[in-house]
Amino acid sequence: MPKKKIVKDSEVIMTELVLPNDTNPLNNLMGGRLMHWMDIVAAIAAQKHSNRIVVTAAADSISFQHPIALGNVVTLKARVTRAFNSSMEVFIDVTAEDIPANKKIKTHRAFFTFVAVDQNGRPIEVPEVEPSNPEEQELYDGALRRRQLRLVLAKRMNPHDAVELKSIFNLVDPQEEKK
Ligand SMILES: CC(C)(COP(=O)(O)OP(=O)(O)OC[C@H]1O[C@@H](n2cnc3c(N)ncnc32)[C@H](O)[C@@H]1OP(=O)(O)O)[C@@H](O)C(=O)NCCC(=O)NCCS
Repeated sequence: MPKKKIVKDSEVIMTELVLPNDTNPLNNLMGGRLMHWMDIVAAIAAQKHSNRIVVTAAADSISFQHPIALGNVVTLKARVTRAFNSSMEVFIDVTAEDIPANKKIKTHRAFFTFVAVDQNGRPIEVPEVEPSNPEEQELYDGALRRRQLRLVLAKRMNPHDAVELKSIFNLVDPQEEKK
C-alpha cells in the first residue's frame, strides 16, 4: 500500500438521469435521492483512495443551491481532499444539465467523511493525500479546519483542542500557537 496517493487516484464521476420516481410534487429532484447518490459516489472515491471497506461517518456542508428538474442529467464528481488516520474527507460537486436547452449549472456541494475499516469493522490506517494543484491544496488545507468543526459538533473533540478552527476566529492564545 503506498504511503501517499494523489487526488486523481480517488476521482469518481457518476451520471444519473432524473426520472419521475426521483422527484417531488414540483417535479424537482428530491434531496434524499441526491444525498443517496452523493453517498455512493463519495464511498467509491474513499474506497479507491484506501483500497478498503469504508463506512460513512459524517455528511456535512450540503448546500442545495438550485433545484434540479425532471429530465435533467446530474453529474456528481467526488474526490478525497485529505486523509487523516483512518478517516478521509471527500468533496462532492454536482452539476445539472438540461441537454435539449444546452444549459449546465453547478447545483450542489458537500463534504462527506468516510472511515476505512477492516473485516471486523475496526478503523484501519489509510494513505495520505498529496495535493497536485492550487485548488487541491486549498481543499486540503481547509480539511483540517472542517474536521475539527465536525468533531467538535459530534462531541468527539474538545473545542479547546481545535486550534486550527480557533485560528480563523482569532481565538488562538499566542502561547498555544507557539506549541
Ligand atoms: C465511523 C466508525 C467506524 C468510527 O469508529 P470508532 O470506534 O468511533 O473509532 P474512532 O473513535 O477510532 O474513530 C475513527 C475515525 O473516525 C472518525 N470519526 C468518528 N466519528 C466521526 C464523525 N462523527 N465525524 C467525522 N469523523 C468521525 C474519527 O475522527 C477517526 O478518524 P481518524 O482515524 O482519521 O483520526 C463507527 O462510529 C461506525 O462504525 N459508525 C457507523 C458507520 C455507519 O454505519 N455508517 C453508515 C451510515 S449510517
